[in-house]
Amino acid sequence: MKIQRFSKIGFVMAAAGSAVGLGNIWKFPYMTGEYGGGAFVLVYLVTIAFIGFSVMVAEMLIGALGRSDTVGSFEKLAPPGKKGWKYAGFMGFNGIIIMTFYSVVIGWIFYYLFTLTTGLPETTQEAKGIFEALVSNSPAVSIFFHTVAVIIVGYIVQRGIKSGIEKINLLLMPALMLILFGLLLYAFTLDGFKEAFSFMFEPKWDKLNSEAIVRAVGHSFFTLSLGMGAILTYAASLPKEANITKTALIVTFMDTLIALVAGLVIFSFLFQFGAQPQQGPGLVFISLPTILDNFGTLGIFFALLFFLALAFAGITSAISLVEPVVQYLIDRFDFTRTKAVVFISILYWIVGVAALLSYTKSYGDIFSVAQKPLFDILEYTTDSILLPLGGFLIAVFVGYILDKDRVASQLKKEMGNRLFTVWRFSIRYVAPIALVFMMLNLIGIIKL
Ligand code: TRP
Repeated sequence: MKIQRFSKIGFVMAAAGSAVGLGNIWKFPYMTGEYGGGAFVLVYLVTIAFIGFSVMVAEMLIGALGRSDTVGSFEKLAPPGKKGWKYAGFMGFNGIIIMTFYSVVIGWIFYYLFTLTTGLPETTQEAKGIFEALVSNSPAVSIFFHTVAVIIVGYIVQRGIKSGIEKINLLLMPALMLILFGLLLYAFTLDGFKEAFSFMFEPKWDKLNSEAIVRAVGHSFFTLSLGMGAILTYAASLPKEANITKTALIVTFMDTLIALVAGLVIFSFLFQFGAQPQQGPGLVFISLPTILDNFGTLGIFFALLFFLALAFAGITSAISLVEPVVQYLIDRFDFTRTKAVVFISILYWIVGVAALLSYTKSYGDIFSVAQKPLFDILEYTTDSILLPLGGFLIAVFVGYILDKDRVASQLKKEMGNRLFTVWRFSIRYVAPIALVFMMLNLIGIIKL
């Protein structure tokens, strides 16, 4: 099978582009707001450092040694008699489930980019009205922008690793960072910045309940794109001489930095005008535009920049959600890239339409199960069950199944002996145990 190779910088940007997504700019800030700030952030940072980073190295390693699609890499690396591990490779299909709702949200962002120029809402009430009109009352508009998102993402993936994925990441990632750091510079000058800083970095322990902990652990996986073979699939195209440990470190660092910057920017704006942080998923769609209205025309400019950054982040992640299955279909079923992309896109487009309809007033009932909208079911299943399960399988595979000498010979020269011992302990014990606890907790079997 022929797999194209990224350039070194191309790989870093593509992996970072996958990691930095709606999870960083949309989800992380609203979760931090909901769960009370500092203590939640601290748990998130600790998990990233002690579990997320180790699993990132493990997932990259599977791709870099396997050099195949998700299923093929597991199959190739599993020792004789343990080839059943190839089924772990089907974690790649989670990406398509995530895409069903991810592309709906990217669609909302496109809609905002279009309508923001006509002015910002003056009151939260008005902003709520706009968001609700879109999500609950305008299925046609939502479907239109969801379709646009599917087409853009499909087009990029169709162009392949080099001229699609690498190229777009080399363009959009620097642009995204420029916008966010520019906004941060401006946020520095606001009085709200100090408050934002202490909200995010002074832990208030009384706000930290077991739900917050589990959500922080879960989010650290989602934000690093771990547990479904996205990083694995990209790593199959890793340039030969690349240093896995260093690359994983850079990607983890960039992802965390961007989440923190996005949080600081949003909370500075919110606190500047006395808004509350615990608004839930509507935080960037409802509170932020209203707050920015206080800046007059400049506010429209900020809002456009912000939603542009959000769109860029979303697109670069979305392509990494689609690519694993596309690669799988190409390898296994001899699909052409175009055929694979069209097939997959149609599939998740349809489910995505059902998901977005589940939020509408007119069709909500049809697309809900036990009062739960399909949208939430898809999100919950991937976030709480499939991703941690994928992470668990990766950790166990690399920690126990994969030939130890092979792992050591690749990683020891990168990490040195001492760090390697720590990493191995994390991948064999800390990560699997934490992930099992998390899944059980989220499924509701046990309560921490
Ligand atoms: N990490 C992305 C975000 O933060 C989402 C994402 C992309 C993802 N690829 C993934 C999540 C693979 C889990 C697995 O928005």
